[in-house]
Amino acid sequence: MNFVLTEEQLAVRDAAREFAQTELLPGVIERDENQQFPAEQVKKMGELGFMGMMVDPKYNGGGMDTISYVLAMEEISKVDASCSVVMSVNNSLVCWGLEKFGTEEQKEKYLKRLASGEIIGAFCLSEPEAGSDATSQRTTAEDKGDYYLLNGTKNWITNGSSASVYIVMAQTDVEKKHRGINALIVEKGTEGFTVGPKENKLGIRGSDTHSLMFQDVKVPKENRIGEDGFGFSLAMQVLNGGRIGIASQALGIASGAMELAINYSKERKSFGKPICEHQGIQFKLSEMATNIEAARLLCLQAAAKKDRKEDFVKEAAMAKLFASKVAMETTVEAVQVHGGYGFVKEFHVERLMRDAKITQIYEGTSEIQKIVIAREILK
Ligand code: CAA
Ligand code: FAD
Repeated sequence: MNFVLTEEQLAVRDAAREFAQTELLPGVIERDENQQFPAEQVKKMGELGFMGMMVDPKYNGGGMDTISYVLAMEEISKVDASCSVVMSVNNSLVCWGLEKFGTEEQKEKYLKRLASGEIIGAFCLSEPEAGSDATSQRTTAEDKGDYYLLNGTKNWITNGSSASVYIVMAQTDVEKKHRGINALIVEKGTEGFTVGPKENKLGIRGSDTHSLMFQDVKVPKENRIGEDGFGFSLAMQVLNGGRIGIASQALGIASGAMELAINYSKERKSFGKPICEHQGIQFKLSEMATNIEAARLLCLQAAAKKDRKEDFVKEAAMAKLFASKVAMETTVEAVQVHGGYGFVKEFHVERLMRDAKITQIYEGTSEIQKIVIAREILK
């Protein structure tokens, strides 16, 4: 496998790095503290083409490959994982699903505005009683002829209040189990659709996570994505790609923490020399660097397979499982390298440690990734 990056891929990485350092770094501590959604920053990400990176330019996308997406996600996540989760959901779960499975009318009406960043989207699968066990959907979409009547509650929805367009999974035919689930496009403001209060979270505090309530919401039939009963398959397929995005987010959180630890270890002195000259600190940095390189290769491998249109289910799950573990371990050690300074907000590593945890939970917990990997290797 050749991982020599092309000129275009390097340019995307450099543009994302420049953007993250100049536009995201100032204010990131305050946004986290105040749980402030990064609206301005997301708007700029749209202008720079980061909100629909892989979408065909004819639908206002960047026409880029998944490797470029991994590189951009890493750079943005090094600085602000609250921004990168907005980006990840919009790119992999919303735009990709619409482009691959939507009708031409849906692409014209929704995808063009989502890919340009004019509006953002949300992906709504999880429910109070259906998280890992995603086939147990309680939300119903009753077939009423030319529309569906949507009733139920979705939990933990990223971009819950900021999105304009929501892809909602709901059960139409219980007899058919997961093959009776549909994916419906619901617009914000539709009668009967309400957004619950914002969750007060440990990490990614800038992103807005909400419950969504649907009470007798009428969704026109033309808003169904794919054939009748295709919703669960759609959800699983977009999540395969989404897991590459979250793996790259975890990679970025880890590499951001390592960069901070390296810089700090060169400045901080103890026992008459910079702490980076103590072997105990060097060993921590060496472990971080090795794990991060391995995580990066797994992310790039999954992305390369997706770009070559090969099966990448196992590779995406492995990348997410491993990179999220590396993010957790690296950020804990980066705090340790900072000593007491690592425990306060100004030094950024405590935020990265808090942000790292979610990468082991959303888009399929680590336990679920292991189930996915086991099924693939035991096939
Ligand atoms: N890719 C494609 N299809 C898949 C798939 C995959 N990775 N995993 C399962 N499927 C298909 C199966 O082939 C099967 O389809 P058919 O019967 O039609 O062939 C169907 O889905 C059901 O699969 P299983 O019989 O294996 O179902 P299960 O109930 O035993 O397990 C599961 C399924 C893998 C555990 C699944 O429920 C799962 O992935 N759970 C985790 C849910 C998740 O990731 N949620 C994320 C929400 S979005 C989010 O979190 C966003 C964010 O934070 C930012
Ligand atoms: P549960 O499924 O109840 O799991 C509890 C524990 O049991 C976990 O450790 C799990 O791994 C373990 N477990 C469960 N089943 C098994 C098993 N078979 N074998 C071994 N262990 C098992 N969802 C969306 O649809 N859209 C979003 O935009 C979205 N954004 C999110 C943002 C945030 C900040 C959070 C916290 C969640 C978000 N989610 C979203 C939901 C997320 O995907 C779920 O939280 C996740 O899939 C786990 O589901 P659960 O919370 O119900 O945990």
